[in-house]
Amino acid sequence: MVIIETRDLKYAYPDGTQAIDGIDITIETGKKIAFVGPNGSGKSTLFLLFNGTLKPQHGEVLFHDRSLHYDSRSLNEIRKQIGIVFQNSNDQLFAPTVYHDVAFGPVNLGLTEEEVESCVTRTLESMGLTELRDKPPHHLSSGQKKKVAIAGVVAMEPDVIILDEPLSNLDPAGASEIMELLNELKHLGKTIIISTHDVDLASRWADVVYVLKGGQIYSSGHPSRIFSDRALMEHTKLKLPAIVETFREFEARGIAEGHAPMTLLDLMDSMESPYIGVRCAVADCDIQKRQQVGLCMREGTIVAALYSEQEATGKALSDAAAGDEVLVENVRGSLLSKTGRILVVQIPRVIEGGSKNVDIEEVQALLNGATFDKVGAMGTSAKVTAAKAGIHPDFDVDVIQSAMLSALRGLDCLVLASGGMAELVKKRVDERNQGGNRHIQCSIEKV
Ligand SMILES: Nc1ncnc2c1ncn2[C@@H]1O[C@H](COP(=O)(O)OP(=O)(O)OP(=O)(O)O)[C@@H](O)[C@H]1O
Ligand SMILES: [Mg+2]
Repeated sequence: MVIIETRDLKYAYPDGTQAIDGIDITIETGKKIAFVGPNGSGKSTLFLLFNGTLKPQHGEVLFHDRSLHYDSRSLNEIRKQIGIVFQNSNDQLFAPTVYHDVAFGPVNLGLTEEEVESCVTRTLESMGLTELRDKPPHHLSSGQKKKVAIAGVVAMEPDVIILDEPLSNLDPAGASEIMELLNELKHLGKTIIISTHDVDLASRWADVVYVLKGGQIYSSGHPSRIFSDRALMEHTKLKLPAIVETFREFEARGIAEGHAPMTLLDLMDSMESPYIGVRCAVADCDIQKRQQVGLCMREGTIVAALYSEQEATGKALSDAAAGDEVLVENVRGSLLSKTGRILVVQIPRVIEGGSKNVDIEEVQALLNGATFDKVGAMGTSAKVTAAKAGIHPDFDVDVIQSAMLSALRGLDCLVLASGGMAELVKKRVDERNQGGNRHIQCSIEKV
């Protein structure tokens, strides 16, 4: 279902700058969309046209198939449904305290005082902002301001959330938290639109990418098509994502094949093969099971391996014990043939009572009852539950991918997942199992 559509949209600023120059796009409900493009290509202007902040001189914007009207009543309505986080947080924050800033939207929606209180508290908690609650926004660091601006929009629970450069000024942990939050919101059915200069982020996060240049759509499509097109990247002054660069290098050396990967898991898959135990990059040939090979590597490394179903043995050729038979572990060795399992524990979502409705002892018993090599937590209520149970997750961002990568290394994983995210983990694993040659066992348990 289409949620936002533009038809031959054109916008020029009062000084005559033609910022948007004929844009026709359709954005579907529930998708994660990334706009990329050089400085001045029109991303921010387009976003302001989406929710009626700017009025086009030509063409139109449609929301749920209806043209935008620019009277103040219609604009108020539309802004409840399309929330924007501006590129510059100073344009967004004005209230005397963080609390009042985040409360502004919910108050305007007509919620009662108690509802506002609970909504703001929940939002601040989920974004790790509780401690800043009473601070004036202009005393915050720029990363903190960004988070408060995002919280203000999230608290309104709009159908579409637009974030212009959401990660600028955020530290890596803060950036990951925000992207996780956006994933959680998408999972609740929201449509998320961002602009970014970070191709690594856009390639692994987005369902659809639009490339803007000179106020026009230069190209659009799935990230795997956009970001593997070197000519397109050069014409639009974008760079290839690091994962694609790495893949291209591996591909040139004959150790990876297939479509350009967008994630680490895809990259590892591009190096997997159903019949190969060891790959010989130097000789540019594949080594079959039970064959013995010698490769030149750094002194002391195991350079020859004999692969069987259960384990691999290798010969250390150049260190002190050259020629000794050694057991190869972890290096595509004995763990290779074993695949770890993923147990997903479903935690009720915040809105369903969250960790309050969870028997923490039951979670602890689960963890103590079986040995898990890695633990992940996905979504707000799962993270809170983990903290209450005294569990320090090995991964709380990119959880599905991290769990699958670990399982493929032979490690067993426990994943605490909020609400429907539990099914999402299983769905992703099942999808991968259909394509891959190494089956990962995945099951869901509710607490
Ligand atoms: N208020 C304004 N008055 C005149 N021209 C403007 C105004 N705001 C933006 N522009 C111009 O419109 C064009 C598009 O700007 P816009 O801010 O939409 O680009 P952008 O893609 O968001 O860039 P960035 O990556 O730097 O954020 C640019 O040429 C810019 O100089
Ligand atoms: Mg901009």
